[in-house]
Amino acid sequence: MQLIQLSKIEDPRGNLSFLEENKHIPFAMARVFWIYDVPGGEVRGEHAYKTSQEFIVALSGSFDVVLHDGKTEHRFHLNRSYYGLLVPKMIWRRMENFSTNSLAMVVTDTAYDETDYIRNWDAYISMV
Ligand code: TYD
Repeated sequence: MQLIQLSKIEDPRGNLSFLEENKHIPFAMARVFWIYDVPGGEVRGEHAYKTSQEFIVALSGSFDVVLHDGKTEHRFHLNRSYYGLLVPKMIWRRMENFSTNSLAMVVTDTAYDETDYIRNWDAYISMV
C-alpha cells in the first residue's frame, strides 16, 4: 500500500493530471470503474482480491480508504485528484466517509471476475 503523487499541470485554463500504465502505476491497466452518488454514511468495497491490484484516485470530493493487511489497519484520506493509493492484492479494503458529489476512480489490472473476490473477513484472515 502506497500513496503515489501524479503530475499536476497547472494552467489558468484548468489543471490536468494523467497516468500511464507501467510508468506512473506499477501495472498494466485492464479495467477502470468509478463510484459516485454515494449516499451519506454508506460504505463500499468491503473485500480483498486474491490477485488484483488497484489504484484509487479521488477525482472529485473526498473519501477514506481503510486498508487492513490482516494485522494492522491503515486509513488514507483521499481528497486530491493528483494523488492515488496503490492497493496490492490480498489487502482487505473498504471505502467510507464519502463527501457529497465525490467521485472515486479505480484502475485495476484485471477484468471483472467475481471469483477473485474475498468477501468474507474470516475467510480473508484464514487465507492471509
Ligand atoms: P462490488 O465490487 O461488490 O462493489 P463494492 O465496491 O461495494 O464492493 O460491485 C458491485 C456490483 O457491481 C457487483 O454485482 C459486481 C458488479 N461489478 C461489475 O460487474 N464490474 C465491475 O468492474 C465491478 C467493480 C463491479
